[in-house]
Amino acid sequence: MDGNGRWAEQRSLPRLAGHKAGVESVRETVRTCRELGIPVLTLYAFSRENWSRPHWEVKALMGLLTQYLRSEIKELKKNGIALKALGELEKLPPKVQDVLARVVRETAAGEELVLNLALSYSGRAEILQAVRRLVQDVQAGRVEPGLIDEPLFSSYLYTGGLPDPDLLVRTSGEFRLSDFLTYQLAYAEIYVTKTFWPDFRKKDLLAAIGEYQNRERRFGLTGEQLREKKVAPTG
Ligand code: IPE
Ligand code: MG
Repeated sequence: MDGNGRWAEQRSLPRLAGHKAGVESVRETVRTCRELGIPVLTLYAFSRENWSRPHWEVKALMGLLTQYLRSEIKELKKNGIALKALGELEKLPPKVQDVLARVVRETAAGEELVLNLALSYSGRAEILQAVRRLVQDVQAGRVEPGLIDEPLFSSYLYTGGLPDPDLLVRTSGEFRLSDFLTYQLAYAEIYVTKTFWPDFRKKDLLAAIGEYQNRERRFGLTGEQLREKKVAPTG
């Protein structure tokens, strides 16, 4: 979700106005994913690197997050949306951790959509914590090193149990991953739009999905192989 600051700057507004406006884009994106039957939506809300922003901005973003979680809990429950969070959550202010835990707990039964919020997130840090826990399990004799395969490794990531993303949408025209789902995005289709996040609406998400549907996902095979055999490879 990028471009909040530039959206505000274009309008001679403070950066915070951009972040606030971006909340409506979150609502519309969540609603649209649910309508379309998309099973998982992961939003990169706050990266590990974002902690280095000016203190007032970090504080304001944490405030907005708390406000969003509090105001949305009813709507999430009503619509069967299960909220989850991924990242170094222990670094979040205790108040944020508390509401987050409450919303996660209270929406856990939701079966329509998993809404994953990446908070204090770094893909590399995620991989390292997976390695650390895996090594502990090997040392404790719970895991046989020779049996470590990709599904097993994936289960140690924050996203364990969830499928890898099919589509990555990056707003504000940047062609970077910025350490987002570094392991999981290996085969994702990447869609970049110049639209700033606060302007991102249903039509923009539909445009991204429309382009995704026209991509040929070959997973290393030839186009001919795919068309002839109609195979649906998984990796
Ligand atoms: C995205 O907008 C929101 C967060 C990273 C929290 P930015 O704040 O990065 O907006 P730009 O990149 O300055 O326009
Ligand atoms: Mg940015």
